[in-house]
Amino acid sequence: MSDHCTLVVNGRQLRANIGDTLVDAGLAAKLLIPHDCCSGQCDTCKVRVLSGSVDDQGTLDGAMVLACQATIEGDAEIVFEEVPIPAKRAGTLTAMRPLSPEIVEVVISMNSPFPYFAGQYMKVAFAGYPSRDYSPTAYLDGGLDETELVFHIKRYEGGLVSSALGNAIGLGHKVAVNGPYGHAFYRPGPSRLVLVASGTGWAPIWSVAHAARLAEPTRAMVVIAAARDPRNLYMGPALNWLSANGVAEIVVTATGERVGGDTRFGRPTEFLPEITASDLVYAAGAPEMVDAVKHLAHLGGAECHADPFTISPNAGSMFDRLRRAMRAGAAPAANPLSPRPAGLPAPPIPLPAAAARHAAALERSAPGETRRRATLFSRLLARS
Ligand SMILES: Cc1cc2nc3c(=O)[nH]c(=O)nc-3n(C[C@H](O)[C@H](O)[C@H](O)COP(=O)(O)OP(=O)(O)OC[C@H]3O[C@@H](n4cnc5c(N)ncnc54)[C@H](O)[C@@H]3O)c2cc1C
Ligand code: FES
Repeated sequence: MSDHCTLVVNGRQLRANIGDTLVDAGLAAKLLIPHDCCSGQCDTCKVRVLSGSVDDQGTLDGAMVLACQATIEGDAEIVFEEVPIPAKRAGTLTAMRPLSPEIVEVVISMNSPFPYFAGQYMKVAFAGYPSRDYSPTAYLDGGLDETELVFHIKRYEGGLVSSALGNAIGLGHKVAVNGPYGHAFYRPGPSRLVLVASGTGWAPIWSVAHAARLAEPTRAMVVIAAARDPRNLYMGPALNWLSANGVAEIVVTATGERVGGDTRFGRPTEFLPEITASDLVYAAGAPEMVDAVKHLAHLGGAECHADPFTISPNAGSMFDRLRRAMRAGAAPAANPLSPRPAGLPAPPIPLPAAAARHAAALERSAPGETRRRATLFSRLLARS
């Protein structure tokens, strides 16, 4: 039996080695199948098997397999969705503001637009720190500037990168951004969108919701936004934007103490509508939540795109780890950015209400601004 076979990728024929992964077979023929982690974690390399012999290595999801894991058994044909080709670019941190007790909005300015599909993520390396995966998104008021990357970053006390935000990492800090990656990006179509986020999972979910609303204003959409601690429900202005733009089915949930007002008590999965094959589901944030939504989507026969926010495997250099160990015993440094100085109550967080009023106020305070940014975004979408 020959050790070689024919692999057809997006219509292009390659000679491939039996036993190679699909990604490796592509690379050997100078064809880049999008990939990132190469360990079955990130879904960037999802491809559809149209025909032939592929050993999915346990990654089969409908007709999709992970090309970094699945191996070639014989002649086969696969397709993948074309996405912007990842590139490494330099940027500068130009704005930071607290969104909640634990979450900050970080804006990185680039010299020119950095194309990505709404819902994809970037590898962000602040100079002197290891890179971390973060999902660019729109401003919470619905604005978007194509030369800026806006991130919502959760600060972890022991987090090598996130705990340095507002301390060693400040305005003017140089940043290398590498991307985009990921498969959980916005896709136009007739299916109802069911969008579920927990915590900063709101960043990619908001990006998808925002893009969908601009491109397909009448598409059915259900949005569920969650946080364990209700004080981290920072997405109020974005929910107001969606509401003002015709999205009626919005649920906000939390499980911590002090749940009240418009916020429902419980996990996001408790508020999912009945999922059917005519839905397209997206879930991002805490890995357990994402897995649970994925499971329910599969039970209902729906396609699901998931972005579990896992901890980075990249712990940093020896020097980084030493610096972190030395900091560990010390009292927490004063952080001018910290929205939660010890003993102070968290500020109230706006929740979806008076949506139309909010949108009108936004338009009054910056006439045409929302529209201008929306137009820029439409151009970006069209180009990428
Ligand atoms: C595809 C993808 C997209 C992502 N997008 C975002 C985003 O838009 N915004 C965002 O805030 N995060 C996002 N994340 C998660 C983020 O990349 C990680 O949380 C990152 O490791 C944090 O880096 P750090 O240096 O602050 O903490 P690290 O030094 O990596 O971790 C130190 C400690 O902090 C805690 N910790 C760190 N991350 C997590 C976590 N995710 N869950 C639980 N505990 C944690 C743990 O105790 C850990 O031991 C994304 C992850 C992935 C895979
Ligand atoms: S590259 Fe295959 S799952 Fe990440």
